[in-house]
Order: sequence, then C-alpha cells, then structure tokens
Amino acid sequence: MSENTFTVRHPVPGGDPEIASELDLTTLTAIDPAFLGRALMRLPLPPDVAESLREIPSETTPGERALMFQWLARLWDGEGDVVEVGPFLGGTTRALGLGMLLNPHASKRRLLTIDRFEGYYNTAELKRTTEPLVRRYGAGRDLLPSLDRGSFHELFHATHAASDYGSFLEIVKASLPDRPEASVPDSLVRAMDSLGPIGLLMVDGCKSWYATKFLMRAFIGKLRLGSHVLFQDYGWYTCFWIPAFCETFRDHFELLSFVDGTFVFRYRAPLAEEKIEREFPDRPESWGKAQFENLFERCLEQSLRMGDTLGPVRYTLQMVAAFAYLGEKREARRLLDACDAHPAMRPHASLIAQCRRSPAYTPDGPVSLEEVAGSTSDQEPASPVSSGTLACGKADSVVDVRITAKGAEVVLRCKGCDQKYASHQPTVAGMAMGRHRCPKCGASVFINPDLFADALERHVPCPSFDEMVELTNEASRITETWYRAESMADLMTYRGVNVGRAAERFLVPIVTRALASADGEGREE
Ligand SMILES: C[S@@+](CC[C@H](N)C(=O)[O-])C[C@H]1O[C@@H](n2cnc3c(N)ncnc32)[C@H](O)[C@@H]1O
Repeated sequence: MSENTFTVRHPVPGGDPEIASELDLTTLTAIDPAFLGRALMRLPLPPDVAESLREIPSETTPGERALMFQWLARLWDGEGDVVEVGPFLGGTTRALGLGMLLNPHASKRRLLTIDRFEGYYNTAELKRTTEPLVRRYGAGRDLLPSLDRGSFHELFHATHAASDYGSFLEIVKASLPDRPEASVPDSLVRAMDSLGPIGLLMVDGCKSWYATKFLMRAFIGKLRLGSHVLFQDYGWYTCFWIPAFCETFRDHFELLSFVDGTFVFRYRAPLAEEKIEREFPDRPESWGKAQFENLFERCLEQSLRMGDTLGPVRYTLQMVAAFAYLGEKREARRLLDACDAHPAMRPHASLIAQCRRSPAYTPDGPVSLEEVAGSTSDQEPASPVSSGTLACGKADSVVDVRITAKGAEVVLRCKGCDQKYASHQPTVAGMAMGRHRCPKCGASVFINPDLFADALERHVPCPSFDEMVELTNEASRITETWYRAESMADLMTYRGVNVGRAAERFLVPIVTRALASADGEGREE
C-alpha cells in the first residue's frame, strides 16, 4: 500500500459482513426521518474511517459525512452506479466511497463524481484550505501551478485516485449549465452516456435553479426506481431551488431521512423528463410570489408534523430567498422582521442576520435586499458555499434536565458568570422551548427543543440504530397482522375488503414511536 492510501480494515470485495443491518429496506420509508438520521449519525464509525473522514477539508458537517458513509454502507442496496455532483475536495466523495467499500451487498461498484474543479474559491483561500492535502498527497507532484490557476482537479486526483475506493472512482471535469442558454460540455455528455442505471445520486453542485432542473431532467431516465437521492443543499436557504424541486415532485420523491442540511429521498414513482420540463420552469421568475408562498408553507406544515424543529427557520428563510430572487424585497424584509421578532427564532439570530445581508444568489452574483442596487458593498455577500448546518445555540449551556411533578426543569450553566441554576422549562405548542435568565448576572439563554432533547437523552436515551431496526421490524409485524386476527377482521371488513391492510405502512412510524416510548414490561403485554 502506498503512502497515499489509508487503511480500511475490510477491503473490497465483499464489504463488511457485520455492517449489514437487518432492516428490511422496504420498511425504510416507514421510519421517522429525523429519528433515522440521528440514529445513523450516532452509529460508531470504524476508527480508521472516522480518521479518514476528518482528513479532507469539507463544506459538509461531520454528521452529514457520517450519514453518507453509513447510508452507503448499510442502506444502499448495492445496485447501480453511484453518482456525486459537486465533490469540491472530496470530503463527501470519501464518505460515499468508504461506505460503498464496506457495503456487503455491492457486487460491482462504480462511483462517478462530477465537478468543474475550478473557480470555487479565490486562489489565496484555495491554497490555504488545501495546504494539508498538498503536504500529504503532493509528494513527487507539482500541484501548485494548477492551484495558482484556481483549479483543484489535479489535487483531487492525487488525493483520491490511489485510495482504496480509487479503483472504482471516476472523476469527470465538467460544468453543469447554470443558464438555459449555456452549452453542455462534451465531457458531461460522455459521462452521462456511460452511466448505467443509477442506484444513488448525491447532489452538492447545483448552485443555481437551472442547474438543478438540468441535472434532474438529464439524470431522471437513468435513476432506478427505488434509488436514493441525497440533496446536501436542501436545508441551506440560498439554495431554495432544491426544496422547490423536491416539493414540486413530492409524488415522485419521498423523504427518508435528514441530518443538518442533507436530506435523503427515495425515488418512488416514475417521473418523466417532459413533466420536469413542463412543471419546473427554466427560471424561478416564471413562478409568482404566491406559488413560492404556498410551496414553502406546505413544506413547513409537513416539517411540523414530522417534529422537524428546524423546519420553521429553514423554510421561512428559503421563502425570503425566493422573494428576494424575484425582486419582492419589501416582502422578504417583512418576513425577516417577523423572524427577528419571534422568540422561537432567537437561537437562529445570526443565521437570520446572514440571510438579511444577502439572502440568495443568481448565476450573475449575490442578491441584496436593498432596493438600490450596489448599496450594500460593505456587506458580506451570499455565497454558493453552504454552511452545512443551521446552528442553534450552545448545547453545553444545558447541564441537566430534572423531571418534576409539574413538568421539567433545566439545569443551566451561565455562559456569562459560570453560575449553575435550575429553571422551569416552558413548552410552546407542546414543544419544550423557552428563555431562562441567570439569577446572578441576568444573562439570558434560549432553550429550543433540540437542546432540551439532547439533555433529556442522558436520562432517556434515543434508541440505538440496532434498537431502532428492531422496533421498526416489530412495528411492521404488528401493523401487518393485527387487522387479520379473527376478532378484528370482522370489524375491519367493509364490503368484503379488510381496510386494515391499507393502513399497514402508514401505521408503522406511529407504532414504532409507541414501542420506543413503552417500557420493557409494556412491550411484552
Ligand atoms: C459546496 S461545494 C461541495 C462540497 C463538497 N461536497 C464537500 O464535501 O466539501 C460545491 C461544489 O460544486 C461545484 N459546482 C458549483 N457549480 C457547479 C456547476 N455548475 N457545475 C459543476 N460543478 C459545480 C463547485 O466547484 C464545488 O466544488
């Protein structure tokens, strides 16, 4: 093994026999998406994989890369080509590649990664960011001239080609068209022609409305029904076109899971290129403000039903981005003012301020919220660079949770004066959120449902991945059989049809949650 490779304990072929989950992949859609994301992200990574995933500077969060690794290792069925769009330096490429390597179902592996590999960072920033990679992988190669030109193509080759997944990695240098009038490079046409059925698509390079439409229209015919599509930018507000696409074609793409900004969908019903052409315009301006309003309100409603606590801020800022893009700046500012005034949005104040500085970008550059173009020269523009996560406060300010007769108290450590104090935790619409004031220095801290849940987990731990698989399988068994029992079958039969069958899948997440919250004794009853 050369110095440029890292050790993976279970090399190809065959993957890791222990890594296969016993989860029936057809029940995946029945699992609570947030629950699945958290469970996967918390699975321990093999130590060599954990180290490898940390090595490459990435614009994704560690949680997102852990999700990608685990997804490819456990939940990809091993069929078809895996395609990545927008690897940058390859943090996500490595997560996908290592996951594929360990997947025991894969008989043949092919990972195709597409990027323009240039013009993403300015030269100084690119050289600073890539310095550790150049040191590690640059021996015997002069990578600096290409980096000086703003290209990271050679560095990408040097970093990944000799890796354990390098044998099945194909690197394609091509630009997706960001405008309808832009030409499609030959390298992209050749790459698309060479593809077999796609088993999994990871999208992190659609930095415009049109590129998203182009990619999905071009690849939809090759996407296997039942395959998984990971949109890394789904949660990032500037890329409002990603949720706009997913929501427009929600009958075809079903949400399976999410971690931070990355959302995973299952391609569940055939979608024709013509339908994309017809229903998703070339430019967002072809849709009016009301259409975006309805679309993001639907997204918001679904997220609340799922208990996705970041849904309100995510979809509100995406609505702001869409309005700003359309030139509806007054309306965009009004929404941001409402965010600033809403107590539940306070943990997201810096994100809201960032969105106010520049909420979106077009292929021509950042969009500002000022009415007069150019009046924001001193402000930091929106960048195609995703933040990766919607940060929401400091978890370490909550030291503990105490369950009391009247509800719950949080035990907090004040960031200002280090005072430890207990305070009653209010709930808003059933969700644990509220502001607490330090009795010593008066500094206040806002606790949102995620921070509360994290602290509570020390007492009532979130089920592990294996427990979740077991609970889901148990719930599936219950939902598939209860209505057939003699005593129930009569009750459930209407005009000769047992209607319980139709509710099988729908009931699985409900029963899973009930089982998860039941104690051992209750589950046996
Ligand atoms: C957010 S970065 C990807 C981050 C990466 N997945 C990681 O792990 O750090 C976006 C990437 O998309 C690429 N990109 C942006 N627009 C593109 C286009 N129109 N065609 C091809 N690549 C594009 C950029 O060059 C950049 O490498």
